Amino acid sequence: MRITVCLTDNRPDAWIEGLRAALPGAEVENWKPGAQQADHAVVWAPPQSFIDEQPALRGIFNIGAGVDALLKLRLPPQAKVVRLDDAGMSVQMAEYVCHALIRHFREFDIYEADASEGRWSFRKPREREDFAVGVMGLGVLGERVARAVAQFEFPVNGWSRSPKAVEGLRCFAGEAEFDAFLGATRVLVNLLPLTEATRGVLNRRTLSRLNGGEPGGYLINVARGAHLVEPDLIPLLDSGQLAGATLDVFEVEPLPAEHPFWRHPRITVTPHGSARTVREASIAQIAAKIRAVERGERVAGVVDPLRGY
Ligand code: NAP
Ligand code: GLV
Repeated sequence: MRITVCLTDNRPDAWIEGLRAALPGAEVENWKPGAQQADHAVVWAPPQSFIDEQPALRGIFNIGAGVDALLKLRLPPQAKVVRLDDAGMSVQMAEYVCHALIRHFREFDIYEADASEGRWSFRKPREREDFAVGVMGLGVLGERVARAVAQFEFPVNGWSRSPKAVEGLRCFAGEAEFDAFLGATRVLVNLLPLTEATRGVLNRRTLSRLNGGEPGGYLINVARGAHLVEPDLIPLLDSGQLAGATLDVFEVEPLPAEHPFWRHPRITVTPHGSARTVREASIAQIAAKIRAVERGERVAGVVDPLRGY
């Protein structure tokens, strides 16, 4: 069995070494143009030229959860595309979202500003019942995040494509229930995959519906930058309709130095690090899935190219 590795923006050596150790007997090589045909590929955002040179691939294993960059390519029709299933990401996402939520709810940003000026001043306590959290996407990451938020006794709503029942959550599904979900939500957390149906889903209309249409909504975007219509955000913040935003992902990454999000006082920017791929756990998961595919077994995390996730 031959495995080719093509990781744009990632150093491949430790991945290759790890895959060789986990799959003794397999030939694992870093891809270069003109390389031999492989059975499986381990990839992150590969170029189309890589795919064009590997028409016999049976499995394409993505070293992240989101497959939007991969599905933009013309892929061999027989190849299964397999995304990472958690592999250490969901706990990081839960930490990140709980931190952003609690920082906003408890106004730690204001305490930080006060402390930097040596000011001793209390903020009036706020009621968590007034800060319903809505998680868009109740998949591997979204459900873990929703459960973590519920532990802090915030009301939690969830929105998914197909109907779900998750204990402790008020679940909404599909387009028909989207506006009701938004209206019942004050702090919106985006954990959708980027697909044709979800591109631009965070926009002036949808963000204005938060908190029953009253000012004070808050956005936490940890999925993909293209979910947000970026020019719509600052007017909503400046008018007071939205109280703030924590953004980990952007239409263009790295976020350009001149982008106004860097300097807006009510936007917190982080560099697409809310949930990083954990290499050892990911290698173990991918190796186990490659072995299962070779035995003809079903594996979790196979992407449906028509659905886009
Ligand atoms: P997942 O398991 O595939 O879950 C996707 C969820 O979104 C599912 O609940 C799905 O509904 C729902 N959904 C999809 N299309 C929808 C639509 N049109 N309307 C309503 N709901 C829809 O994905 P995941 O592993 O949780 O990851 C989610 C995303 O997080 C990834 O695609 C990636 O973009 C992003 N991510 C970001 C980082 C970071 O560091 N910032 C790290 C990892 C992942 P059903 O349950 O009904 O199918
Ligand atoms: C990171 O953004 C991922 O999709 O894993």
